[in-house]
Amino acid sequence: MLNIALTKGRLEESTIKLLQRAGINCAPLINKGRKLVVNLDDAYNVVFAKANDVVTYVEYGVADVGVVGKDTLMEMSRPVYEILDLKFGACRFSVAAPSGTDIYSLDKVITIATKYPAVTRNFFESRNMDVDIVKIEGSVELAPILKLADAIVDLVETGKTLKENNLEIIDNIASISARLIVNPATLKTKKQEIEKLVSIFVD
Ligand code: PRP
Repeated sequence: MLNIALTKGRLEESTIKLLQRAGINCAPLINKGRKLVVNLDDAYNVVFAKANDVVTYVEYGVADVGVVGKDTLMEMSRPVYEILDLKFGACRFSVAAPSGTDIYSLDKVITIATKYPAVTRNFFESRNMDVDIVKIEGSVELAPILKLADAIVDLVETGKTLKENNLEIIDNIASISARLIVNPATLKTKKQEIEKLVSIFVD
């Protein structure tokens, strides 16, 4: 039996499609109601959780494998193995600012609003730039509009949210997609089951 933690929300639909394509009957998952743990084909116990919690469950080994965005992995830097790029959930980590503003020429320490303070810190440190970071939980694009920040670091998928809020990309930090992660100890103890799961995912 393999315990799998999946990220609910944006990645949910593609993850279920992937499992279905692998021949796994996902009806119990689609019709789960408020049930938190779902058994699939007597082979997998599946839970849906918030992205950060997926990483935590895999890190502590209560889930053997997980599906989570690279953005969360970059932000959390936890000791889990990333074994497969699942390719879906593709977007970019970008720096964006109000259109026409050259934030790098501002004569002050700039303020960046983001849900991802560690990624932001690492990016600007790599550029030897001193920035102030404000942690925001959602709709980060609001921060420059409200003048809380000069720019944002956020995920960009279609670019629609930026465009509709008069923001533009000024730097790209990384390409993001969903990843299959594994607990390092489980990789040894359940090697065959994990290899089987990987093989059906890459087919
Ligand atoms: C994400 C991201 C952007 C938006 C980008 O937010 O943080 O705000 O999607 O998508 P786009 O480029 O296709 O417009 P999400 O909808 O997950 O909500 P949140 O901002 O509240 O986290």
